[in-house]
Amino acid sequence: MTCFEAAAADPRRVRRPQFHQNPAMSLLPILELPHPRLRNVAGTLDADRIATPGFQRLLDDMFETMYVAPGIGLAATQVDVHDRFMVIDVSENRDQPLVFINPVIHRRTEQLREHQEGCLSIPGIYADVTRADGIQVEALDRHGKPFVLEVDDLLATCIQHEIDHLDGKLFIDHLSPLKRDRALKKYEKLRKGRD
Ligand code: NI
Repeated sequence: MTCFEAAAADPRRVRRPQFHQNPAMSLLPILELPHPRLRNVAGTLDADRIATPGFQRLLDDMFETMYVAPGIGLAATQVDVHDRFMVIDVSENRDQPLVFINPVIHRRTEQLREHQEGCLSIPGIYADVTRADGIQVEALDRHGKPFVLEVDDLLATCIQHEIDHLDGKLFIDHLSPLKRDRALKKYEKLRKGRD
């Protein structure tokens, strides 16, 4: 059982890599349900933007925001940027940052896998979601270099979850109406409790 974007919920487990100690970085606000822009469909990122200092800084800020949250993935949509890219780190030691720009899933295994997912945009809510166990994904890295990855298990789940965000979808959309309803009611209650 894995808590998804909150996989590192135990703060003792969070070890931050060197490059995250740059004081110039800043935390970004994360959109939370029911913010309507979580439903935006992100557009293709213009590859000319990748090398710009502003975009590189945004990636660093997204990693910082994800590590501090703590989470294992963060899509641009969640920080109110509506271009297709996301950052992920599913490693125990939080030292394997991955950037996916304009990601496309080419293949999915027929074999499915269920993971307990959560989402930084729906804090406090967790539910089992069934997705392809393995995927082949193609994307650009943070230097604009294309790469293809064949992955399974948690990383495959995380990539599918984050690409969903870029398409305006949330993990609760994968639940049965009954379970989604229950999750939304619980979420409303949690939100009221926080006010
Ligand atoms: Ni999410």
